[in-house]
Amino acid sequence: MAEKIQLSPSDATRLLEPGPLGLITSRFRSAENVMTAAWMMPISLDPPLIAVAIHPSRLTHEYVSKSEFFAVNIPTAELLAAAHRCGLESGRQGDKFARSRLTAVDAVALDLPLVGECVAHVECGVVGRTAFGDHDLFVGEPLAVVALDEAFNERWLVETDAGRVLHHLRADYYAGLGRAYRATLETDE
Ligand SMILES: Cc1cc2nc3c(=O)[nH]c(=O)nc-3n(C[C@H](O)[C@H](O)[C@H](O)COP(=O)(O)O)c2cc1C
Repeated sequence: MAEKIQLSPSDATRLLEPGPLGLITSRFRSAENVMTAAWMMPISLDPPLIAVAIHPSRLTHEYVSKSEFFAVNIPTAELLAAAHRCGLESGRQGDKFARSRLTAVDAVALDLPLVGECVAHVECGVVGRTAFGDHDLFVGEPLAVVALDEAFNERWLVETDAGRVLHHLRADYYAGLGRAYRATLETDE
């Protein structure tokens, strides 16, 4: 049976390596929120660090700034409609977990909701924040990292439905990778 396995903080960099779409969950006091984010990346291996660009107008920006915690949850195509909705509506309009039929589950290390239906989760403490242009870049230190064994084993298992994470192309177009290639180096002999 498929199981969610706890990984090391450095696996957060591998989870974000191919640029998957994320659902950023946050909490401030008793209020919880979930927001779609495409602008995310690993930025350091030692220590492991990731970054996400969040516009100051987002409710998520307010919650992450005030709590100094957030989680990245990674959806597959099964959650396409919910992920799209969480990127169009603000938590100011109502409870996005309920409106998108997503299940809020307790995080492992932090007082945060995770999206239960997602195949991987990275819980982060904010260790830096810098404004670049119109977005602020929040730097997160991974404190707990979890992934479904059917979806991720040292790399995303993109050949399977469970491991085919979403990538944003533009507007309402998304994509999923379907094939992995393994590189070899030709020798001179
Ligand atoms: C596919 C997609 C990707 C998005 N990526 C980001 C992002 O990386 N950063 C950001 O600030 N907003 C991004 N957005 C916009 C926010 O998700 C959107 O403004 C959302 O309503 C904010 O929710 P909130 O106010 O509840 O935090 C994205 C939207 C979509 C549809």
